[in-house]
Amino acid sequence: MVPGRGGAVTLPVCRADTPVVEVIKQLDRSGEARAVIVSPRDEYVCQISPNEIRRHLLTGLDADSPIGSIAEASPLFLREPELADPERRRAVAVELRAAGYSHCAVVDAGGRFLRVVPCEELLGAAGGPQPAAAGGVQRVLVIGGAGYLGAVLVAELRAAGYAVRVLDNFIYGRGALAGLAESGRIEVVDGDIRNIQTIVSGLADVDAVVLLAAVVGDPASQTRPTQTIETNLLAAQAIAFACRSQQINRFLYASTCSVYGQGDGLLTEQSALAPVSLYARTKIASEQSILALADGTFSPTILRLGTLYGLSPRMRFDLVVNTMAMKAFVDRKITVFGGAQWRPLLHVRDAARAFVACLAAPLAAVGGAVFNVGSEEQNYQIAEIARLISEALGGIPIDRQGSTLDARDYRVSFRRLRDVLGVTPCHTVAEAAREIYACLQGGTIRNPLARVYFNHYFDSTEE
Ligand SMILES: NC(=O)c1ccc[n+]([C@@H]2O[C@H](COP(=O)([O-])OP(=O)(O)OC[C@H]3O[C@@H](n4cnc5c(N)ncnc54)[C@H](O)[C@@H]3O)[C@@H](O)[C@H]2O)c1
Repeated sequence: MVPGRGGAVTLPVCRADTPVVEVIKQLDRSGEARAVIVSPRDEYVCQISPNEIRRHLLTGLDADSPIGSIAEASPLFLREPELADPERRRAVAVELRAAGYSHCAVVDAGGRFLRVVPCEELLGAAGGPQPAAAGGVQRVLVIGGAGYLGAVLVAELRAAGYAVRVLDNFIYGRGALAGLAESGRIEVVDGDIRNIQTIVSGLADVDAVVLLAAVVGDPASQTRPTQTIETNLLAAQAIAFACRSQQINRFLYASTCSVYGQGDGLLTEQSALAPVSLYARTKIASEQSILALADGTFSPTILRLGTLYGLSPRMRFDLVVNTMAMKAFVDRKITVFGGAQWRPLLHVRDAARAFVACLAAPLAAVGGAVFNVGSEEQNYQIAEIARLISEALGGIPIDRQGSTLDARDYRVSFRRLRDVLGVTPCHTVAEAAREIYACLQGGTIRNPLARVYFNHYFDSTEE
């Protein structure tokens, strides 16, 4: 069979008088990386990607102007009879692929657009694999990608075939990403999100944004309240606003189950919020201002994560499970303060999987939505966490102290995460405790009490 005559392949097709903002919407709905632009008489003009459009927006293009105002006629297409000519179709497909196109337009004798054909099909079996792209998303900007969750997420995204850019100011050092950055497998922008120019250059040519960067944790936000408000609230708002004006529709915001603070029963995404710290208050305020920006071309998703645990290339020992496993090694005992408080836990690798699933999900399912991320089975009382870790590590003694400084106490429902995204966390506290202990025993982390492992020191001095 002559290639290009098989089953229907579609890209969105837009007339040149279609407003730019409408073209972006069609691209988002289709999940395709390019739209075909045709003249009012249906003649083929070119294919255009969201990033090409965004570059024009950044130089002043009005989002309501017709797409024809920036669509330049492309010479790279095939006339119908040329499909039967292997050399010609191969030459065009090779050029298109080299320029990053996945499809070739086919036109009739009068230049009218007929359909698109995958370049792969035109090249035959020798064409090699297509670049990976889920839901039209190819390049993801991970803001705060050098952090505890970020370093794990970046590796997961690369494994899933995404191109990744990290924007971070490396408060806790560069070690976590050094290997990936040096080998060129990720792009790194070194900068502070409290700077507008940094935000704008970080957003260039990305299809989706994951915002993790923050002053994270109650003690850290208490130590630096102004930096917390600037970063967690004001910079987060500026980034969301910049995404909306750049028509970057997919925006995942890392929030926290700490927004629930204290509450009875299983708390859902609709439950009342009762923050008990500046950290949680800034997270709520930014959730609200990000969701308020949602419209047809900005579809943010809020992921409220349980308390994370497990090994990461940027390790933290100020998170309950990690602290207990580390203390079991250093002190040969686990100290518990209070113990009756409930807390939802989540392995850092499961958290990263939830972000990847969300990026690949149809926008209609996740845009404008809030998800609790975790699992009901891992709603634990602090004393129970200590017991699990002690048992996993062969019976380390537990020292119970009456007082606690941490007022958080809540249990959370994760039904929406399962029903909509099909994500069920699979890693356990016992498994993570053993991994952490083995890592300390093996000497991979030599000094777990170093300040770099505790957020509130804001120290980048690596071991
Ligand atoms: N760790 C948890 O238990 C947990 C739980 C719920 C939610 N979260 C959320 O997940 C996200 C990531 O948390 P984490 O544990 O990886 O924290 P982390 O402190 O390890 O990582 C935060 C990263 O953001 C960067 N950053 C901070 N301020 C910045 C700025 N002004 N400009 C550029 N980069 C900046 C830091 O350098 C760091 O690499 C946060 O938004 C946090 O609120 C974490």
